[in-house]
Amino acid sequence: MSNSLPFVLAITGASGSIYGLRLLQYLVESNQPVELLVSRGAQTVMKEELGLVFSPDNLRNELLQYLELPLDAPVVLQRMDDYGASVASGSYRTRGMAIVPCSLGTLGAVASGLTEKLIYRAAAVTLKEKRPLLVLLREMPFGHIQLKQMMTLSDAGAIVASASPGFYHKPRSISDMVDFVVGRVLDQFGFDNHLFKRWKEESAPIKLLQGR
Ligand SMILES: Cc1cc2nc3c(=O)[nH]c(=O)nc-3n(C[C@H](O)[C@H](O)[C@H](O)COP(=O)(O)O)c2cc1C
Repeated sequence: MSNSLPFVLAITGASGSIYGLRLLQYLVESNQPVELLVSRGAQTVMKEELGLVFSPDNLRNELLQYLELPLDAPVVLQRMDDYGASVASGSYRTRGMAIVPCSLGTLGAVASGLTEKLIYRAAAVTLKEKRPLLVLLREMPFGHIQLKQMMTLSDAGAIVASASPGFYHKPRSISDMVDFVVGRVLDQFGFDNHLFKRWKEESAPIKLLQGR
């Protein structure tokens, strides 16, 4: 698939905004143009979890600075209420869309076909154009309604993923666990990434419960 087509990345207000930020960092470092959407909920979670407070008028640049990315990176931040934005139209071609992390609120809206926020409209467009759409959920346990909404999205062709790192790659840090999840997200879109050690790849054994 062409790298020059933009990738749509939405970050919403589920716990784990670090996944979305790491994905953005990886995409930019891979010279992948990104159409970025960040919900208000995501900004609240970033503040709570990472201590990040961005000014609404300078969100794009402050995010790039935080991720140590150049300000001239091919990242376009879209306004949540801009229905004239590129990603609101199916004729604007993209490589696909990932909602990382995806809150249950956004899951419900997308599964119901709502379009009152640009994230929902972009997801609806991605589905109707038969492009890959991935939602990375983070909740425990899942309620019955959300499980049905996941089925609805899966039936519609979306990739329903959960932010659940494996342990078979023997993570030693939070960063290792984040990279596992982000690497598996990238796998779904065909990005040839090496963010984590795959099953049967060589890795050092972890020393769990040392001293016990
Ligand atoms: C610190 C914090 C953690 C949250 N974690 C989750 C979560 O893991 N999953 C979830 O679905 N919602 C979570 N929420 C709630 C959502 O942020 C909230 O439902 C919000 O309205 C989602 O809106 P959005 O999808 O437009 O970002 C969390 C909220 C806060 C403040």
